[in-house]
Amino acid sequence: MDFRGDVLRRLQNRKDGYSLEQAFYTDPDLYKLDLEEIWYKDWLFVGHDCEIPKAGNYFTLQVGDYPVVIVRDRQGSIRALHNSCRHRGSRVCTSQKGASAKLVCPYHQWTYELDGSLLFARQMGEDFDKAAHSLKPIACESFGGYIFICLSETPMDFAPVKELVNGYLAPHQLKDTKVAFESTIVEKGNWKLVWENNRECYHCASNHPELCRTYPEAPSATGVQGAADDPVISQHWAHCESAGLPSEFQMSPTGQFRVARMPLIEQAESYTMSGERAVKRPLSDAVKASHIGTLLLFHYPTTWNHVLVDHAISFRVLPLGPELTQVTTKWLVHKDAMEGVDYKLDELTHVWTETNDQDRRIVEENAFGIRSPAYEPGPYSPEHEGGVMQFVEWYCNFMQDRLRGKTSPLFKVA
Ligand code: FES
Ligand SMILES: [Fe+2]
Repeated sequence: MDFRGDVLRRLQNRKDGYSLEQAFYTDPDLYKLDLEEIWYKDWLFVGHDCEIPKAGNYFTLQVGDYPVVIVRDRQGSIRALHNSCRHRGSRVCTSQKGASAKLVCPYHQWTYELDGSLLFARQMGEDFDKAAHSLKPIACESFGGYIFICLSETPMDFAPVKELVNGYLAPHQLKDTKVAFESTIVEKGNWKLVWENNRECYHCASNHPELCRTYPEAPSATGVQGAADDPVISQHWAHCESAGLPSEFQMSPTGQFRVARMPLIEQAESYTMSGERAVKRPLSDAVKASHIGTLLLFHYPTTWNHVLVDHAISFRVLPLGPELTQVTTKWLVHKDAMEGVDYKLDELTHVWTETNDQDRRIVEENAFGIRSPAYEPGPYSPEHEGGVMQFVEWYCNFMQDRLRGKTSPLFKVA
């Protein structure tokens, strides 16, 4: 049996409600399959439009083998381009972020317009066709302050995600924010372990003393079931919806993305040690209500998010290797909020900086134990780990479809 057939058989035979076999967390060939079938085919969150406010602003990232540059062009549109020169392939933009009137390759100075078209290539002969050597474009969509890209040449329709999620994000006006702080950490574990850990709060009470001051560990908040039946949550939805904030739980049928607004505990408003707002200047002028909790949004495989009354936090997951994952966290505040006046950076970032580091250690210990020849898939808690089961089911179903050659997962929202 070929490799893909073998993986398909293993996915079909897996025990429901159990963690995956060791190879799914460690094997380089399975990692390559994840890249090819998920990371190179699906829509990926890359960053925020407020990070590139002016023409010529850009940032770069690496998705598997693909170097990518995201740039704002002269017309104000956001574009994603393959960051590989059409001369001999050198990376054109080498910094993590920057500003440039043109994109100039450092190797032989081929010069590209901000839309990727080749403007200038020295002494290439009379027959040289500049128009045939633009930087290759990547599908790119921006909505609600978020930029997504899709590396596939035949990207799936992204409109249903935009339509659903935009309504939830719109009141928060993330276009008018700035990144107050960002951190990038590398976790020694497979990207799926990072997600599994994110999708439950069974571990929170004993691992996250700072986060637990404000974030509810109830599975109805973190997971995917029971939110509507929880009276505290439904009361919170009524409070937020009456203030014009879409709040009810919604998930796509494939389970790839979910939005829901959740209350924080004991009237907390923000992820601070006191529960009080970290930023005096509200995140959005359009949100007049207080105690709006946190808008939770996840989209597999790259992002989970919290949007609060005073700031927003986005998380971006990128795989670096079979057992290496990068997690970038960004704290967004209103663009006019001033550090030292409206907020103290340490107060704003403390809880999630600690939480991220605690989660990194958890993921690394999890990966460590999974490497043991004695490891075997173990049972998830039906009560607390519904969210993890949902993630693993999404992964397994998605991979099975892809391995069978199905290309268009349902995007309609039930
Ligand atoms: S490789 Fe870019 S100019 Fe030569
Ligand atoms: Fe955690």
